[in-house]
Amino acid sequence: MKEYVVVANGKLRQCAYDKLNETVTLLGWQQGGKMPREVLEERLANADALYSTGGIRIDERLLAKAPKLKVVAQASVGYDNIDIAACTAHGIPVGNTPGVLVDAVADTAYALLLDSARRIVKAHEHVASGKWGERKPFGLTVDLAGKTLGIIGMGDIGSAIAKRAQVSKMRVIYNNRHQRPDDAELGVTFVSKEELLAEADFVLLAVTLNESTKHLLNKETFAMMKKGARLINISRGGVVDTDALYDALASGHLAYAALDVTDPEPLPGDHKLLTLPNITITPHMASATVETRDAMAMLTVDNILAGLAGKPLPAQVGRK
Ligand code: DGY
Repeated sequence: MKEYVVVANGKLRQCAYDKLNETVTLLGWQQGGKMPREVLEERLANADALYSTGGIRIDERLLAKAPKLKVVAQASVGYDNIDIAACTAHGIPVGNTPGVLVDAVADTAYALLLDSARRIVKAHEHVASGKWGERKPFGLTVDLAGKTLGIIGMGDIGSAIAKRAQVSKMRVIYNNRHQRPDDAELGVTFVSKEELLAEADFVLLAVTLNESTKHLLNKETFAMMKKGARLINISRGGVVDTDALYDALASGHLAYAALDVTDPEPLPGDHKLLTLPNITITPHMASATVETRDAMAMLTVDNILAGLAGKPLPAQVGRK
């Protein structure tokens, strides 16, 4: 008889499923998609741990359905869907997956940065539509070399992106809640948000979504960006006011946006952003490599097992 019940609200990577299944009674959802709310609530009544694959709000309302819960672990670095204060009030530690996804996310950010300058996706569409064969011109793109990249949010992911941009000979400025002690070593310059928006040719968002970053880019802040600047977002869609972004791109004030995250998500196929010629959107896939998703899943399992054993989680939100 296994001691603990763990509920997972979505499909787990096989390695995580096997490891958990060995040690606990796992009530999973391997058929894909998200577990229906009523099933989740019914299963939580007896759950000792919740393995979150995202897509749910973990708040007082949900916690009230889970009287035995000892730990919540989510297979992502972002946790804007989780009310940490509510979990803390219930004595429930929350785990996430920092570190293991840094390179995968930074690679995606770099790919989108390149795409925003060189329009790789649009160039493919040009060829696929037969226009190259008809000798219609695709037009020129712009260099990264010699341009300024402004990164908002300079944690592990931000600094991994800075290193990639420097390979393309970009100057990197950044804004963060705190200036980093290793600025000189990283070769980056701390500036105010206003300076960053005014100076950057490319603005890249790598911040956490919270009360202070919601709609950080809006009508007013887009107006502070250089005409012809480009935006890359790999953080959360809610950091950008979608209507204001549409207007900034449609008017040509912004030359291009390359986004891995949107508001709403998933973005409906008939959304107005998709009618724009100067945008690339990927489906929130920055960490979606086999190796990284396996590592995130195994860290989530380790967080759950530590929580069930009453030990500090290997990656616990809010604990240094
Ligand atoms: C995260 O881990 O928060 C990422 O957004 C997932 O791709």
